[in-house]
Amino acid sequence: MPVTIKSPEEIEKMRVAGRLAAEVLQMIGPHVQPGVTTGELDRICHDHIVNVQHAIPAPLNYHGFPRSICTSVNHQVCHGIPGERVLKKGDIVNIDITVIKDQYHGDTSKMFFVGEPSIQARRVTQVSHECMCRGIAIVKAGVRLGDIGHAIQTHAEQNGCSVVREYCGHGIGRQFHEEPQVLHFGQPGTGMELAPGMTLTIEPMINAGGRQVRLLPDDWTVVTRDHSLSAQWEHTILVTETGHEVLTQLPGDGL
Ligand code: MF3
Ligand code: CO
Ligand code: CO
Repeated sequence: MPVTIKSPEEIEKMRVAGRLAAEVLQMIGPHVQPGVTTGELDRICHDHIVNVQHAIPAPLNYHGFPRSICTSVNHQVCHGIPGERVLKKGDIVNIDITVIKDQYHGDTSKMFFVGEPSIQARRVTQVSHECMCRGIAIVKAGVRLGDIGHAIQTHAEQNGCSVVREYCGHGIGRQFHEEPQVLHFGQPGTGMELAPGMTLTIEPMINAGGRQVRLLPDDWTVVTRDHSLSAQWEHTILVTETGHEVLTQLPGDGL
């Protein structure tokens, strides 16, 4: 399927879906505490999305994914399956929320600290956040995908971290994952040019150690090969003529 350019009516629906996804992350924050299981966090998010937002949790049954959110802890990179794991002091966890409202998707994730993080955990979390922000900052019509990837990769590597290559950001709309692929590494001046009305995610996965990853036998959970910590943040972005609009950002929640 080619890249889709959203109409003003579709953009309004993307704004609604984006806001709902962001509100789930805000809602779940106070529940991320030592002693909670990732399965409990999944249940709380599921019930909020379905019963309060009257929306659909996009991950549930997506290519067979068995839960409504992804929870990726410590050296888990992405696509962690919520379950019996009990969060403990010092853990870092990415919670990734995607909702479908009125047929359109909003996709966002952030890192949470359980108790006090180690210096290294704080650092990889901060670097990954800065990487996402630097990628978002340059988004506007005419910029190329390689420019975004380069901005992210440069910042990660300047700070002694690495960029996961096997997973990337993506176009988003009526489909969860649309074209184009938004790589978090690359060369300036290469790749597709952004155009007004495109909606896409930027979601760099940044490792404190090497960039290599491995898939666990559950066929979903991605972990770092060297067991170094990994962190990820994600926003859904609208490309505009003069810049961009972050569709998954709540008012007052600065980047
Ligand atoms: N939300 C993830 C992303 O940012 C995708 C999760 S797919 C799932 O693209 F099946 F694992 F839920
Ligand atoms: Co995404
Ligand atoms: Co996501």
